[in-house]
Amino acid sequence: MKITGIAHNAINVLDMEKALDFYCSAAGMIKAFELPRNGAPYIVYVKIAKNNFIELFYGGEKDRDENYAPDLIGYHHWCVNVTNLQALRDRIFEKGYIKEDIRPKITEAGGKNMWIHDPDGNAFEILQPLPDSEYKGRDEFLGIGHIGYVVSDMPKALDFYCDKLGLKEIRTAERDGKPWLTYLAAKESSNGLEGFDGQEIELFWGGKRARPNTWQSYGGMHLCLACEDVPNMVEDLRRRGVTIDIETKVGDDKNIQAWVHDPDGNRIELMQIHPDSPQARA
Ligand SMILES: [Fe+2]
Ligand SMILES: [Fe+2]
Repeated sequence: MKITGIAHNAINVLDMEKALDFYCSAAGMIKAFELPRNGAPYIVYVKIAKNNFIELFYGGEKDRDENYAPDLIGYHHWCVNVTNLQALRDRIFEKGYIKEDIRPKITEAGGKNMWIHDPDGNAFEILQPLPDSEYKGRDEFLGIGHIGYVVSDMPKALDFYCDKLGLKEIRTAERDGKPWLTYLAAKESSNGLEGFDGQEIELFWGGKRARPNTWQSYGGMHLCLACEDVPNMVEDLRRRGVTIDIETKVGDDKNIQAWVHDPDGNRIELMQIHPDSPQARA
């Protein structure tokens, strides 16, 4: 696979202070570094695990009401995988972000998960892939587990993500006898366990309604996929008819990047991490 995993999830934030309190003080992620632009605050990088970040952008605009209704096309939710969901849940509860009755639930695969919201209302799933016995006393993050999108045309989406980008289609879950959610592997799990240290893109069927999706729209802003060789990947994508939105360039952070978009217009950054970049050193 040319794509080696999800490098970061980027969201536009309405209130940076609140977002950092939630993701860092409560959830326990680490504020790693900031990337200013023209001397002004621009992006805060929050580290989840090695080479896994959430990019929080200042200046999000609240131009849409519901953030993740099942028929709204585009970014839906994101998920991080942890080794001790209960400990994390208790810390988030103590900080006042969730009510007493929000508790981990057992997943179909035998792990546990919990759905909550960040202060801007963005859906945030936390998953513990393995039962307690494996990981007693630890609550560190395994990394970004998956990012979910609601898709308007699944064959087109699969053509883009699988045939063009090279992600692997895993399976499609059904609900009420109809296809509901198609899982793609962005990174294979080292032990074959679903949701362990592998990473997935979740594509939900049934997107019908468009919604504002500008560079400033709050919530999900772009997905960044790590890639071993961005210049080569870009030429390959071009040959396959993919429109390149921003050609290969070296960013302020020294990483090689290029930008494309999926058939629904969701922005995708391809990033080749430079060993001296702040991401690699964080
Ligand atoms: Fe999920
Ligand atoms: Fe990014």
